[in-house]
Amino acid sequence: MNNLTDTILTVSNSILDSIDMTYYPSKYQESHSTGYSQYYSCISGKEHYRLLAYIASKLSDHVLIDVGTFNGWSSLALGVNKTNRVVSVDISQQECVISIKEPNISYVISNILEKENDNLLISSPFILLDTYHDGGFEQQFIDKLVNIKYKGVLMLDDIYLTEGMRLLWNNISLPKHDITHIGHFSGTGIVLFE
Ligand SMILES: C[S@@+](CC[C@H](N)C(=O)[O-])C[C@H]1O[C@@H](n2cnc3c(N)ncnc32)[C@H](O)[C@@H]1O
Repeated sequence: MNNLTDTILTVSNSILDSIDMTYYPSKYQESHSTGYSQYYSCISGKEHYRLLAYIASKLSDHVLIDVGTFNGWSSLALGVNKTNRVVSVDISQQECVISIKEPNISYVISNILEKENDNLLISSPFILLDTYHDGGFEQQFIDKLVNIKYKGVLMLDDIYLTEGMRLLWNNISLPKHDITHIGHFSGTGIVLFE
């Protein structure tokens, strides 16, 4: 087990729930068009943003990848430690994040499966994948990480959201841990690429 995995597996709900999550919601109000800000501060085990902020706080001077920008909340949670650079990738322009101006967070429009993203993925010790949730897409992404010999931790959001995601999660043969109790109620898992 590497340090990052150990960090994730040993954190408690009480530590996560003591993190101050008020900064970004107060900075980027609903009126500022980022939407869904009420979920950002939810307790651990209900939403996963506290866990993302915690992971970011335990890593320094790294690139962290957020696949699936949408409203930008996962990018903001991963961006709390300003020594890290967060690259948030979405297949289409997300209007919500145009108003987000954080020097350590950049938004890229691209299909994450494209080869142009391979070096970016390899450069990061931590990737959050939160996209289609049909299981098939996520399998393609995992296969890609294996093919490019990725080393690091992949966090999968919503591993129990759909039948496809349940099947995907059950069929992953790489080392993995169900961390739903400290993540998102719809299922959070980490997969270790060693
Ligand atoms: C559930 S939302 C992400 C929520 C976001 N992580 C958050 O916490 O606010 C899923 C996003 O994945 C994006 N997406 C779907 N397929 C993608 C792909 N192949 N590459 C990059 N982004 C993709 C969608 O456009 C959508 O905005």
